[in-house]
Amino acid sequence: MISRAYFAKWFEAASIYLPATMQNFGERLLKDPIPFAVSTLYDRSFENDIAISYPAWPFQSSPTLVVVSGSMQNMLAVTSYGDGEKLDDASRQPLGFIKEMAGTDNIINLTGAASIDQRKKIKPFLTERASLDKVFADSRKIFDGLFDHWDTSISLRDNVGYVCTSLIAKCVLGIPMLTREQAGVVIKAGNLLRESEPGKPDFVAGEEALAKLNDDLLTLHKDVLLSDKNYIHAKAAIATSDSETEKFAKLLATRGVSNLLVESNLTMLLMTGIGYVNQSPEIKKRLLDEINSHPDMTLESMRKLSYLDCTYKEALRFSSPTPIIIRATSKPADLAITDQQGRQKIYRASAHALLFAPIRRMHHDTCYWKNPETFNPERFEDPEAIKHFMPFSLGTRTCPAASHFNEIIFKTALLASVKYDLQFDKEFERIPADSLTSRWKQEYYVTKIEESLQQREKNRL
Ligand code: HEM
Repeated sequence: MISRAYFAKWFEAASIYLPATMQNFGERLLKDPIPFAVSTLYDRSFENDIAISYPAWPFQSSPTLVVVSGSMQNMLAVTSYGDGEKLDDASRQPLGFIKEMAGTDNIINLTGAASIDQRKKIKPFLTERASLDKVFADSRKIFDGLFDHWDTSISLRDNVGYVCTSLIAKCVLGIPMLTREQAGVVIKAGNLLRESEPGKPDFVAGEEALAKLNDDLLTLHKDVLLSDKNYIHAKAAIATSDSETEKFAKLLATRGVSNLLVESNLTMLLMTGIGYVNQSPEIKKRLLDEINSHPDMTLESMRKLSYLDCTYKEALRFSSPTPIIIRATSKPADLAITDQQGRQKIYRASAHALLFAPIRRMHHDTCYWKNPETFNPERFEDPEAIKHFMPFSLGTRTCPAASHFNEIIFKTALLASVKYDLQFDKEFERIPADSLTSRWKQEYYVTKIEESLQQREKNRL
């Protein structure tokens, strides 16, 4: 997921000189360099676990494209590029479009000390015990309510998206509640990140709506935000000597509400889990048997349910909500690549290269997974399965919500959803392995919800 505008400056010049003989190859590159990287170059990378496409005439002004595959170590060479000792502030430029939508720097756009500082500020709300207890309690309550009173008039995406956005708002940002309309502004802005680009009228309108939502919510909840511990308060870096006016100005300047944009990853994951589990009676039965054996579910007991854990991992693999990690270089970069025999070799990517770690392709590759297009939690009963599994990226910039926050929300959502038989209005569309968005194009509606037969039997006993 990246703005095409980012590539325009490289490809515009080349297009003018494009000779007819190069048109096929050239057009693919010009229109969409990322599909070329994720499909053709990924396939080519299997020879040496890396494929490098150097710009040739007439594409001298285009970037070198580098794609890695094979081991996690090789993927790490890309995901960790630009941080730590080999700091390269340009490494996050491909994510500049998120900054445009957010209206300010976001952790994900930052490098060096600035990103370390922001990670430190957000992590307590995603990893500390007290925060996770709250996430568990809030998440259980909100998902029970969602499925008990399912709104059939709105799509699965809007139902689940509203709950995910509200949970992140409450548990991480300290915003106690959202209306459906407010969550809708966030959902729309997330769609524009994938479907539009900075400067286009719809993108600008989304940006403005998100900025207004920031100001409305932070004004409404100013007192609770300033008196409580939450990420927006931490980001505002308020000094004790600040006046009330200064405090409020700093709060607004955080544009903290834009952090809600991560909801789209979580929502896609949950929709995949809820949808595919509900469509497979065998998976559902195994889950219900496991869940029903723990009548007093606590955070600890929930995390120990092994089949539920396999289902979580399979939903992450299958949906791969972040399909690809991209880094840019502003100087020559040496990448240490290990081949299948364990031999390491250094490959040099030139300055102004784009480096790709194609997560989704790896998660759907028949070299690593048996029947990758089948949703099958059992595959994760084999401990070897995680050898090619990296839904949250790798290294120091891995998703800080990876180990606990997302897991708790996913698992509590499944606990609530498997109690019902859900009927979807159509079959889920297949998302190709080399897709760049990992999102369904269509909306799905749950037209009927009943207590499942198994649950009814259990209640009768
Ligand atoms: C299933 C849900 C999610 C998935 C698959 C996911 C995936 C990822 C991935 C792959 C990255 C690394 C991006 C890169 O290196 O370019 C990332 C970064 C990040 N994620 Fe998540 N994420 C999810 C949910 C969340 C949630 C719910 C939050 C917060 C409430 C969150 C907060 C962050 C932050 C702050 C970063 C930036 C970390 C940094 O740059 O140091 N994520 N996420």
